[in-house]
Amino acid sequence: MPLQNINPTTTDAWKKLEAHFLEMQSFSLKKAFEMTPDRNERFSISFNDLSVDFSKNRIEQKTIRLLIELANNVNLKEAIDKYFSGDIINVTEQRAVLHTALRDNSEDPLFVDGKDIRPEVKKVLRKIRVFSNKIISGDWKGCTGKKITDVVNIGIGGSDLGPDMIVEALQFYKNHLTTHFVSNIDGDHISEILKKLDPETTLFVIVSKTFTTQETITNANTIKNWFLKSASQFDIAKHFVAVSSNLEAIDAFGIDPKNVFPMWNWVGGRFSLWSAVGLSISLSVGFDNYKSLLNGAEKMDLHFKNSDFDQNIPVILALLSIWYNNFYNIESEAILPYTQYLTKLAPYLQQAIMESNGKSVDRNGNVVNYQTGTIVWGSTGTNMQHAFMQLVHQGTKLIPSDFIGYKTSLHGLSDHHQKLMANYNAQMDALAFGKSKEDLLLELRFSEDASTVNTIIPYKVFEGNRPSNAILFEKLTPESLGELIAMYEHKIFVQGVIWNIFSFDQFGVELGKELAKKLLKKV
Ligand code: F6P
Repeated sequence: MPLQNINPTTTDAWKKLEAHFLEMQSFSLKKAFEMTPDRNERFSISFNDLSVDFSKNRIEQKTIRLLIELANNVNLKEAIDKYFSGDIINVTEQRAVLHTALRDNSEDPLFVDGKDIRPEVKKVLRKIRVFSNKIISGDWKGCTGKKITDVVNIGIGGSDLGPDMIVEALQFYKNHLTTHFVSNIDGDHISEILKKLDPETTLFVIVSKTFTTQETITNANTIKNWFLKSASQFDIAKHFVAVSSNLEAIDAFGIDPKNVFPMWNWVGGRFSLWSAVGLSISLSVGFDNYKSLLNGAEKMDLHFKNSDFDQNIPVILALLSIWYNNFYNIESEAILPYTQYLTKLAPYLQQAIMESNGKSVDRNGNVVNYQTGTIVWGSTGTNMQHAFMQLVHQGTKLIPSDFIGYKTSLHGLSDHHQKLMANYNAQMDALAFGKSKEDLLLELRFSEDASTVNTIIPYKVFEGNRPSNAILFEKLTPESLGELIAMYEHKIFVQGVIWNIFSFDQFGVELGKELAKKLLKKV
């Protein structure tokens, strides 16, 4: 059964939220914390090794109550059940949405088109394990008998961003293999990577669900031609594998069918790192770490599926985002991990979030009369503090921000970590509580030049009252990373349900592709 089609703005809860928004005009985070010192305990959820403190938001208990009422008015619970049980909720493409099944350890059968998909999922996982072990151990030899030293993932969008982000994020856990990612059609991208490679010791993983994507196929052909300069067609089997659902096209490319890792149409590109698209992750950090990543995601799935909405991390994050997007009319949200390992998280989430919820037609086929997908962007702390945070603190725009932190550092440089986390907390405090004119006057009271003080004060005032979420894990591990990514995936889902849009198609990327092809024909 598809999801219900309910225009959220017609619900009782929406109307109540509009009225509540007016009540909240004078809300001050500073006052709220003064009046309720344990506010962060009241607005926090802990789960496993994760705690989410959402107390620094422009909310009261009533806000959360009404937002949950909105979720209930659009039958979110029923939608979640449909999502996990394989209903055709991607209606425009007539597909189930089951990336969650890829990390589900349950033995219960799960049917898609009358077929239990569990055995197939397990079979592919086994294939990933066996293949990764052979490459990592060196049992797999290249065409001249040498071990593989480099892996190149050739893909774009979901076939690149997820694995690239995770391989970078889990560098601490990586083995001796060097992993490269080629995505852009820009020949300079592939040229720079080829300069670093030895064809005798490189494995190429071509990742494309459709195996028709212009960028990937062009890059794959360029690489094949480069490879064949020093090897024969027969050697391709030792150096090229593919991850795809288009078996015919793979065959035409010349890849040995034994070297094909299948994908399924019930896994969307931007949610596919849990499938064989994650092969380069498993190669880089080993299958056990890859499996821990999946297990972490499964933990978040179970939390999302089974927790009451007021204790449900993805639901609360999604509702807060709706609160700002649809009532405060904010335009964007910042994703700010305080770890250099998550440098690629923002670009990854840009695809996941903006390709999913950047839609303006609702599930009834009507153009929406309310805002949908937010713009997301970000960078890592503390680098971004020296870049764009000026605007977040003192600019004219309200930018709700997710601060992602880790209690323990991986390399154990405790001096660095203490400073990093002091900055993590200081930024959120500065955003929430600001610095008033009175505070500044006190601070500058011994300054000799009173007129200079008065002139400078307006520029030094921080109005505060700017929202943030503190998303804090114990440690960056494959498991906690799995939790983090699944958390955002479910936030996307909840928002799509409430906005009454189809989150799992991406027709908006097609026109540009078509026009580029037409222009190419004219060249
Ligand atoms: O950009 C559109 C898109 O279809 C994405 O959704 C997908 O991740 C990407 O292209 C790559 O597609 P494929 O895996 O089929 O090459």
